[in-house]
Amino acid sequence: GAFTEQQEELVNSSWEAFKGNLSQNSVTFFKLVLEKEPGAKDLFSFLANGVDPNNPKMAAHAEKLFGTVRDAAVQLKTKGEVVAEAKLGSVHIEKKVTDPQFAVIKEALLKTIKEAVGDKWNQELNDAWEQAYNAMAAAIKKAMA
Ligand code: HEM
Repeated sequence: GAFTEQQEELVNSSWEAFKGNLSQNSVTFFKLVLEKEPGAKDLFSFLANGVDPNNPKMAAHAEKLFGTVRDAAVQLKTKGEVVAEAKLGSVHIEKKVTDPQFAVIKEALLKTIKEAVGDKWNQELNDAWEQAYNAMAAAIKKAMA
């Protein structure tokens, strides 16, 4: 169904919570990614030696990734569809990113948001992020095609 103003607000407020503790949330996220997909350490240069909380590149990447999904929520609300920048297509082609990896990143993102918001978490909030993620993932895959 259509993406509602309330859903956009849920994503926006939890995006602020995510950024408010960016360093710790980035650690949570990339630990979850590595648990499910050990090969990710060869994809992300900053994971070569595992999760290093002091590597600013890791937090910077998490901020970009989560911010891009948040942008998808804004696009869904304002125009009802999501378009990815062409560069996002080429970056992910170059890294040979696969469909199963998109599922791993989604699961890790949703769990990280759950931790980031604590007792503010609910199913609607989760579903809003999932809808935004799915739409951005589809847009990136389209840009990769
Ligand atoms: C790079 C977002 C899925 C692996 C990036 C960048 C963004 C991004 C914003 C930075 C591009 C730039 O430098 O301008 C996303 C979003 C995803 C997604 C929103 C899902 C909706 C994935 C998946 C993988 C992946 C599933 C594989 C596990 C990478 C890698 C880079 C990258 C390896 C390059 C990192 C580097 O060397 O700097 N992604 N990504 N991404 N992404 Fe994704």
